Amino acid sequence: MAKRIPVALAAVVVSVFVSFSASAQVAKSHATANVDLDARLKEVEGNPRQFEASYKAGSKVAAFCANCHGDGGNSVKPDIPNLAGQNPSYLLEQMHQFADGRRRNDFMERLIRALNPDEKIGMVVFYAKQEVIHKPVADTALVNKGREYYGKICFRCHGDDGRGNEKIARIAGQQPNYLNLTLKRYRDGSSIRQDALMAANTRQMSDADIAAVVAYVSSMK
Ligand code: HEC
Ligand code: HEC
Repeated sequence: MAKRIPVALAAVVVSVFVSFSASAQVAKSHATANVDLDARLKEVEGNPRQFEASYKAGSKVAAFCANCHGDGGNSVKPDIPNLAGQNPSYLLEQMHQFADGRRRNDFMERLIRALNPDEKIGMVVFYAKQEVIHKPVADTALVNKGREYYGKICFRCHGDDGRGNEKIARIAGQQPNYLNLTLKRYRDGSSIRQDALMAANTRQMSDADIAAVVAYVSSMK
């Protein structure tokens, strides 16, 4: 079980983590700085022994991440996403985006830069295998409206079950406030996070459409 810390202390914790990680692994990360993470992920996924070692390494990293993303990647904080059950290539892509500044979050940017390639692959492999804890439906009428909207647009990429695919995010069971925040960022062209496909597919959404879709998506298994 991870040791709990208040989020206010997280900045201190991350600087400790960063310096620990940097001093312990400086040689290792220099040696692997140019590793192609996507190719490395494929290799690990295709080799049971490497997979097991990588999963173990990932579960160690995840004990730290649990302070915000929850045990096994099931977040209990409404603004912080679940990582449980997330698709590996999507997670890696988000790490690239935090690392090169396309996606902005001060804490995550610093943290991701401090992880070495083995830790990144390990954490992706670990989270993909965790089960998402299902949240019961709160407002049936709103959920039904959201289901209808989802069935017209979102299913085309995220799938009927909301689990996406290799490159596209799983959204089923995601934290509602995080979904709400994220959809509005895409729609409003925020510099915090942009994506051409998601901009095109949220442009027509009213706040009420977003509220309905969020109610549905967060209740999906
Ligand atoms: C202090 C809290 C905190 C800690 C600790 C933390 N994160 Fe995050 N993480 C966040 C927040 C907040 C976001 C959402 C940023 C946004 O609004 O886009 C996030 C987003 C992410 C995302 C993007 C998820 C998605 O669905 O797109 C990934 C991947 C991620 N974190 C990985 C990690 C990993 C790996 C660790 C541990 C090494 C970690 N995080 C530790 C706060 C944290
Ligand atoms: C044409 C394909 C496509 C369609 C249609 C689409 N999406 Fe997406 N979606 C994507 C892609 C690609 C990403 C990853 C973008 C990125 O890297 O930021 C994404 C990301 C997301 C995310 C962020 C996931 C996370 O963990 O942070 C959410 C939430 C989301 N989509 C919800 C929706 C909803 C709701 C709809 C319907 C209104 C929808 N999408 C329609 C392709 C699509």
